[in-house]
Amino acid sequence: MRCREPDNPFTKLGEDLVAWQRFHRFPGGPGCRLTQARRPGLPACYNSDVARVLMVSPECAPLAKTGGLADVVGSLPTALGAYGDEVAVVTPRYRAIDMKGMRRVYDSLPVYLGPARFDTSIYLAAEPFPLYLVDCPPLYDRKGFYGEAGVDYPDNHIRFAVFARAALGVARRLFRTDVLHCHDWQSGLVPVYLKTLLAGDPTFLGVKTLFSVHNLAYQGLFPRTALAELALDPGVYRPDGMEFFGRISYLRGGIAFADALSTVSPTYAREIQTPEYGFGLDGALRGRAGVLSGILNGADYREWNPETGPFIPAHYSADDLSGKRICKRELLREFGLPEAAMERPLIGIVSRFTDQKGADILVEAAGGIVAEDVYLVALGTGEPKYEELFRSMAARHPDRIAVRIGYDNPLAHRVEAGADLFLMPSRWEPCGLNQIYSLRYGTVPVVRATGGLDDTIEDGIGFKFVEYTGQALLEAVRSAVRAFADGDAWRETMRRGMAKDFSWKKSAAAYSALYQRLAGRG
Ligand code: ADP
Ligand code: GLC
Repeated sequence: MRCREPDNPFTKLGEDLVAWQRFHRFPGGPGCRLTQARRPGLPACYNSDVARVLMVSPECAPLAKTGGLADVVGSLPTALGAYGDEVAVVTPRYRAIDMKGMRRVYDSLPVYLGPARFDTSIYLAAEPFPLYLVDCPPLYDRKGFYGEAGVDYPDNHIRFAVFARAALGVARRLFRTDVLHCHDWQSGLVPVYLKTLLAGDPTFLGVKTLFSVHNLAYQGLFPRTALAELALDPGVYRPDGMEFFGRISYLRGGIAFADALSTVSPTYAREIQTPEYGFGLDGALRGRAGVLSGILNGADYREWNPETGPFIPAHYSADDLSGKRICKRELLREFGLPEAAMERPLIGIVSRFTDQKGADILVEAAGGIVAEDVYLVALGTGEPKYEELFRSMAARHPDRIAVRIGYDNPLAHRVEAGADLFLMPSRWEPCGLNQIYSLRYGTVPVVRATGGLDDTIEDGIGFKFVEYTGQALLEAVRSAVRAFADGDAWRETMRRGMAKDFSWKKSAAAYSALYQRLAGRG
């Protein structure tokens, strides 16, 4: 379904002009973008087949990360470079961001939300791709990205409305854009503003939006009254707009107003159209199924690589696995588990501790797991109740289970490298990157067959279970433990996993084709 306002003369004019310019393209000429005529100073290499994409994201690794979204946004732009796309990213300047090497490129970009004015300025990190940071200390210079001690900041609706508007300011003034690729609810207002407040703004004629859902569970829900603070037409509060069971939802807004939608695995793209996984948005997603694609995340093997990667005590490869034993020994030492575990399966977990990640069924199965003469190390942080569950599980089995509560990227690498098995018993999993990293580290994944876990793990490289129960999880672990007993066959399983290629190559090509289609060139 096309998503343009049928009665908007500017949109119509923009499309006609784009078509006209494409028709009249001359060799070596500037091509079909309307912006060319207005910006003759753009580099000569800028041609009609290059899509200029601005990713709007609340996270970008390595600077600002709570989970896999940051990994995706931190590595996809570079991969897209191979397809000729010019990609930049815009993200808030949180307190935690190290500003070394950044320069201020725009001093004053005021954002008006009705009578309220927010003064932002823009910083740029030029390598390895242009990364714009929206600086607005009253909003982003805080300890957390979205909240503190498990409590969301009460002004998140303002914080991410200002972010959306400032990102549009970057597209207007600093990085002329064909496609705005928006990630998760925090950027959901970008398509909403474009299709409403800015619908007649000539700067954005022909500019398209792709809205990527990395996790349907996070919806950016706020009271209806918040609308008044966002400078949005109250008309967006409707079931096929931003309304969601009496509140407004930024995620719903993105889904309703973006030109195209994507999510991060083919299976999750199907699942979210069902009531079981739809979090109340399955109907909305079915309504837009024609523009929804599922594109599997890729891994950045420059960082997640046992042959060369950082933070691990020894490097190793499929041909020479000896370093992995060193990694295992060091990991046991780091977690205070006994040397005896060297000859037994060691299960690793690195996770946000939330409803999503299966802590409840893991705790249910823990007694059965340790009864298999197995050891477990877990690194994670998140909701206090799950942190407590993990702590108490370790307290019940101190010689078998060790837990580290916290966020620690180097340790995450060491768990990937040192463990024999990697457990992801997720209730839902849009894609999941840790199981992909595990494969590369020869750490055999045990996963629940859902979303991207189902798409990436097959028999012969890992173990899957279907039912979301402690019993099903335990059975899968038992199968893995039995397989571990046959050393040669186990090493073959490891090697098959290590040989899998989940780099960005294929998926970046799919995004690139989507951008081209959106920009009217496909
Ligand atoms: P999600 O985005 O749902 O958390 P993914 O598997 O896609 O799940 O990505 C998780 C990313 O976050 C991985 O890079 C993982 O290593 C990292 N991560 C998660 N929890 C921690 C933690 N406690 N410490 C360090 N890294 C973590
Ligand atoms: C989300 C999902 C995870 C996915 C990541 C990156 O956090 O929970 O499955 O891999 O986003 O897309």
